[in-house]
Amino acid sequence: MSNWNELARHQRATEARHIQELFADPDRAEAFCVQADGMRFDYSKTNIDETGRALLVRMAEDAGLVDKRAAMFTGAQINQTEGRAVLHTALRAADDTVIEVEGENIMPELRAIRARAYAFAQDVRAGRFVGQGGPITDVVNIGIGGSDLGPAMATLALAPYHDGPRLHYVSNVDGAHIADTLKDLDPETTLVIVASKTFTTIETMTNARTARDWMAERVADPGAQFAAVSTALDKTAEFGIAHERVFGFADWVGGRYSVWGPIGLGLMIAIGAEGFAEFLAGARAMDTHFLNAPLDQNMPVMLALVGIWHNQLCGYATRAVLPYDQRLARLPAYLQQLEMESNGKRVDMDGRDLERQSGPVVWGEPGTNGQHAFYQLIHQGTRIVPCEFLLAAKGHEPALAHHHRLLVANCIAQSEALLRGRSLEEARAIMAKKGLEGAELERQARHRVFAGNRPSTTLIYPCLTPFVLGQIIGLYEHRVFVEGVVLGINSFDQWGVELGKELATALGPLLEGADASDKDPSTQALISFVRNQQD
Ligand code: F6P
Repeated sequence: MSNWNELARHQRATEARHIQELFADPDRAEAFCVQADGMRFDYSKTNIDETGRALLVRMAEDAGLVDKRAAMFTGAQINQTEGRAVLHTALRAADDTVIEVEGENIMPELRAIRARAYAFAQDVRAGRFVGQGGPITDVVNIGIGGSDLGPAMATLALAPYHDGPRLHYVSNVDGAHIADTLKDLDPETTLVIVASKTFTTIETMTNARTARDWMAERVADPGAQFAAVSTALDKTAEFGIAHERVFGFADWVGGRYSVWGPIGLGLMIAIGAEGFAEFLAGARAMDTHFLNAPLDQNMPVMLALVGIWHNQLCGYATRAVLPYDQRLARLPAYLQQLEMESNGKRVDMDGRDLERQSGPVVWGEPGTNGQHAFYQLIHQGTRIVPCEFLLAAKGHEPALAHHHRLLVANCIAQSEALLRGRSLEEARAIMAKKGLEGAELERQARHRVFAGNRPSTTLIYPCLTPFVLGQIIGLYEHRVFVEGVVLGINSFDQWGVELGKELATALGPLLEGADASDKDPSTQALISFVRNQQD
């Protein structure tokens, strides 16, 4: 971050400027936009100017982005706290790529596992793999975090491409989740996939055992209707899942980056091997772009640098992800894990306290629903929330093209409204037209003012196909990487989830009566409230 102070000075010097002023440059809309394989990322409605962009790009260069990017793609151990390479990109690399880990080309084994997973998915889809009651009608994926959010998000996103059995995702240890999911399913025609990198995650293993008990009530050999995806092949065997239905992956695939491999088995079953291959091709196209495009025309790099500008430089603590694409309803949740588990760290790679804020709080909902909920604050609240709009130019329902026009109009109008706002003079004119005058006109007008000058970006793509979804997810993955590099963070570990897990394990027995006197008074009171309800 050698030029951090220069950037901070530039941000302060330009913060009073209205973003609209920047459009005095007639070329701005094209100059502050990145194109990649049919997708367009427009960041012209931000307060970044040419100097700011040049400084941001230099900051990324000075942080060693180019070398670190190469290190990731070639299998160096960049996840230093866990001593691992980070090779989710290998899961979607071209077949003739050679990637070595500890001197061995990992690609042949990856291809073999993918071929097995495809073959199994196709068998399930074609009714060659059957349950006790016949062809599989429903598949239940049991997993959590990275073993759930990616495939669940993608399965919903690609609903128009589903032509296999119905897919269900169970993650929460709350019994309500599995109970509500299984209640309408037929155990004799249900396949359960237990997806867990470690095969020890308490939520997943509890749900998996419950699903097995549910199936055992009606199915003579429930294990025969279970498949597993994991790095821990000894544990899947212990659970009783036959080797031929176990799909392994290596520990250099991080959980939240794992949708591209066998963790995507549910998606493979839903859309078929060809559709899944398209999904991989989209991500591969984004990888190629990320590796080759100059940094200032590089979509993941610019998406990351815009994020750093807003979060670390302008001090906007959150960012809203607003897909105008109903089928991306789970994208914000997926990105919460991807971005916040990756870059929500308080120390740098060497364990030193970060000098800047870590990654932002990420949240969002599909438009237009959000417009009728929280956009009030986005437009008129005192806090600035940079908005990231996502928009498909075309929907999947030709008969409902009028819906899509409305959707598109709303998305583009929101970014316009955030930019231009409405002045007091304009608000006064509106009130005068309604017949108001004097103090009442003034009072009412003030409530109708929009400051505008609120930053937003728009990612626009032709249509949410498997290829495009692959591009979008690849884009966000690389954005996280670039932000991590600039901030000096290890984006690939997640120690912050450990303490809660440990304490939950220790707390279980206390709910059943064990001595809780060493707990703080609040914790004791909560435990005793629960115990009293149980008595
Ligand atoms: O608790 C966090 C986490 O470790 C995530 O990183 C991971 O995606 C999730 O739990 C699930 O882990 P597993 O796939 O090993 O069950």
